[in-house]
Amino acid sequence: MTDDAVAVIAGLFASEGAADYLGEPAGDALIAAALLHDVGHFAGTLSGRDLMRGTDNRHAESGASWLARWFGEEVTEPVRLHVAAKRYLCATEPGYAAVLSPASVYTLRVQGGPMQGAELAEFEAGRYSAAAIRVRRWDDAAKDPRAQVPPFEHFVPVLLALAR
Ligand SMILES: [Fe+2]
Repeated sequence: MTDDAVAVIAGLFASEGAADYLGEPAGDALIAAALLHDVGHFAGTLSGRDLMRGTDNRHAESGASWLARWFGEEVTEPVRLHVAAKRYLCATEPGYAAVLSPASVYTLRVQGGPMQGAELAEFEAGRYSAAAIRVRRWDDAAKDPRAQVPPFEHFVPVLLALAR
């Protein structure tokens, strides 16, 4: 490889586009959605325990409704769609199901299994489907017990800026 090629590639990696891609920066709304996406397990009438016992607690919907008291749809819609995003990815992305945690595989069945037919186009057409898929992928990637994560306080300014 010539020095030229190295310089060109180094330039690409230093570009704004690469920084976006490599760091996957998200807007505050999506960060809040990712942080809060499972709040329905605690805020809804049916808990996460009910879900693990085989009753769909519809935590995506209950969580989104609960959050709507303070947050706009840019936060609540990715939350509402995060289970749909899992069902969508299982139907459309070869190999996706293999990255799911055992708990997610189990709950997928309770939540209706992979999407089929008209549901797929409906999900794709939604304004927040891409945002929900990002939240979903972060969630899948975050199930690492050794991961170092900031404490809740770290996110408080983001939440305060978004809440109304
Ligand atoms: Fe969830």
